[in-house]
Amino acid sequence: MRVLLIISGGIAAYKSLELIRGLRRHGAQVRPILTKGGAQFVTPLSVSALAQEKVYDDLFSLTDESEIGHIRLARETDLVVVAPATADILAKMANGIADDLATTALLATDRPILVAPAMNSRMWAQASTMRNMELLKANGVMTVGPAHGELAEGEIGIGRMAEPADILAAIEAALGGPLTGVRALVTSGPTHEPIDPVRYIANRSSGKQGHAIAGACARLGAAVTLVSGPSNEADPPGVETVHVETARDMLDACLQALPVDVAICAAAVSDWRPAEAETQKIKKGRRTNATSPNLELVENPDILATLGARENDRPRLVIGFAAETDDVVAYAAAKLASKGCDWILANDVSPHTGTFGGDDNKVHLISRTADAPRIEEWPEASKVEVAARLAERIAETLGSAA
Ligand SMILES: Cc1cc2nc3c(=O)[nH]c(=O)nc-3n(C[C@H](O)[C@H](O)[C@H](O)COP(=O)(O)O)c2cc1C
Repeated sequence: MRVLLIISGGIAAYKSLELIRGLRRHGAQVRPILTKGGAQFVTPLSVSALAQEKVYDDLFSLTDESEIGHIRLARETDLVVVAPATADILAKMANGIADDLATTALLATDRPILVAPAMNSRMWAQASTMRNMELLKANGVMTVGPAHGELAEGEIGIGRMAEPADILAAIEAALGGPLTGVRALVTSGPTHEPIDPVRYIANRSSGKQGHAIAGACARLGAAVTLVSGPSNEADPPGVETVHVETARDMLDACLQALPVDVAICAAAVSDWRPAEAETQKIKKGRRTNATSPNLELVENPDILATLGARENDRPRLVIGFAAETDDVVAYAAAKLASKGCDWILANDVSPHTGTFGGDDNKVHLISRTADAPRIEEWPEASKVEVAARLAERIAETLGSAA
């Protein structure tokens, strides 16, 4: 893997040194370009020592031009990565400006480009930056981040460069994996079903498992749409995340995402919702006869069964989760048949397991076969490991069915 890494002039440039180390550990060849601004934040010596490569920084260098030339530099790579990507370099890229080595290489390259924007949250929210990002995305430039968190100036907001591990994952995904060309839909988190404007019915799902699956599929190269109910988990890098509240919104977003090759329904969708959501807050003691409100519940749409029963655009693989507290495997096997899906991952969510909200999961994979369902017990592992194993299994299955 060959990466042309452009380091522009943002405070996050120090994290790019860690990115270079990560890339080298993955066996990548890294050719670094430092902008003039970038060189204010990290020294060419550090970059060069870590990359074990010469640092390129001058467009009009007679020596560099005779050795490799800016056009070859731009093309003898598998991917161009800009990390950090300043507001300035993004603006230049969006407008075809080529006034130094970095921007000229970006204009001259015929390779895919991945940018990791990093800047103050106001710079990021500026209409000009947003417009530039839209243009770049429309032109096929891939992005990772920025993340929400503490910024250099001590403010909190969106603008932090994605962590080096997330950029590495995005690089791997951009360069293709066994799920390249596969479209995946993942649902995650709980749903909130309004009782009135301030109250709702919810459940204890955290979204950790679903988000990890979306990230794992993206890392293997899939184009992933994640439909997430309210969750504290960050949007996974390289994934298009759609945020929803209710089961009905989640179903709409899933149908919008079709057609896909695989649907993984990890969300804990509320089975019921209040028949009528009050438009005003229900006041204590002010109801007729001062009785407690009587909640009438109606059934929510069944997203998994809906996807499993689609006629013309049924995903090739429909995978559900069964969160049960007793007879987990038996319930899950029954669910496989009743929901018309291909696989069910059954997990025990009894309070003593700590599965809801925890970092680990113990699952059984139950798959449909011509005869009785096949049951596979997976060892207890972190949700991230379960996600990686599932993504690999999906890749094997879709690959062998292709
Ligand atoms: C201390 C300091 C920190 C800066 N951090 C950022 C930053 O994080 N993101 C950004 O877009 N610009 C940042 N800038 C502004 C850029 O360095 C400036 O726009 C420069 O022209 C970028 O040049 P380049 O894009 O060619 O590297 C910072 C400037 C200073 C002085």
